[in-house]
Amino acid sequence: MAWTSDTPLGLVIDRAQGPWLYLSDQRRIVDMISGIAVSSLGHGHPAVVEAVREQAARHMHVMVYGEFVQRPQVDLAESLARHLPPSLQVTYFTNSGTEANEGALKLAKKITGRSKMVAFEGSFHGDTHGSLSVSGRHVYQDPFRPLLPDVDMLPFNNERALKSINEQTACVITEPIQGEGGINIPGDGWMQALRTRCDETGALLIFDEVQTGFGRTGTLFVFEQFGVIPDILTIAKAFGGGMPLGAFISSTERFQALRRDPPLSHVTTFGGHPVSCAAALAALRVIVDEQLLARAHTIEERVRRRLQHPSIVEVRGRGALLGMQLRDADLTARTVHRCLKDGVLLGWTLHSDCLVRIAPPLTIPFDVLDGACDTIIRALDAAGQDAQT
Ligand SMILES: Cc1ncc(COP(=O)(O)O)c(C=O)c1O
Repeated sequence: MAWTSDTPLGLVIDRAQGPWLYLSDQRRIVDMISGIAVSSLGHGHPAVVEAVREQAARHMHVMVYGEFVQRPQVDLAESLARHLPPSLQVTYFTNSGTEANEGALKLAKKITGRSKMVAFEGSFHGDTHGSLSVSGRHVYQDPFRPLLPDVDMLPFNNERALKSINEQTACVITEPIQGEGGINIPGDGWMQALRTRCDETGALLIFDEVQTGFGRTGTLFVFEQFGVIPDILTIAKAFGGGMPLGAFISSTERFQALRRDPPLSHVTTFGGHPVSCAAALAALRVIVDEQLLARAHTIEERVRRRLQHPSIVEVRGRGALLGMQLRDADLTARTVHRCLKDGVLLGWTLHSDCLVRIAPPLTIPFDVLDGACDTIIRALDAAGQDAQT
């Protein structure tokens, strides 16, 4: 098995249940990052496990995506459509977030006949060549150049820079809240200006909600909070309820572009795997039935109330997508390591080494959440004392 980190966590997982990861050495740790914003229902939710079991017994893969009518795909697409505005009613299922973004970029190029793309510094859209081309951090891009040509990388949340979007622009891709960039929330005004500039120039607006989607920020999708509707929406991570699944979503009219010149303009073998779709449908029902959107807000309130410490510069984010900004990278690393030793799994974000990611399952029991926050405070105390000695 390949590793891509010099210092992998290397925890040996025996099983996982609710907010807990059980290790082979009999220890258990609280999962405060949900497998990077995936396990929003916690691990092993019975409704998802049952849906997986049932669909696996009924049928697994039967045909490449889009040729046969497969009930779990249809039911899931219909259910998504009920939660989305009229311009986002058609779903193309993929395997992952990066594939969803590849599909979205291709769809935008095909619809507009343009090639220029606009993206933002600090963004992360995935690691395949197209998504990497529109991800805003040189250190991850440079070893793989040449990437896609014609990508303009603009400063995030800067209204003046939006002038670079013009009549040659096929699409603008952004995370409404940057996850890996360090939980960066843009102003409402910037979002509105972005929508307006895309409308003026005919550029399609793609929102990557791979990390922010499915209730993590307290609404099903975070674009609802900004009052701005994208032309194409991409999703993955928590969407599959723990199974691999992504999608790009747009209108019936726009999706005609992938049907012609040539037909089969985007093909995937495993995208929309029936077992993943069955799990996703069960997960979506749980989010609604167990009122997890409201829970995300309560998680935010509790974390903000408890995480008060002189070493904390800021806690930012929305709902259960939070980041704790510390004053330096060394303190951050020591705090994260100390917490892991004390049974709490935290992490960094890809582009920021002074930010501790806090993204627990939305189902985490409040006493477990409070206990994890207390462990963080004790770790900050200990890390501060270590620094003085
Ligand atoms: C905002 C965003 N987009 C896309 C991706 C890529 O998703 P995947 O790893 O499923 O390809 C990620 C992964 O972290 C992400 O955070």
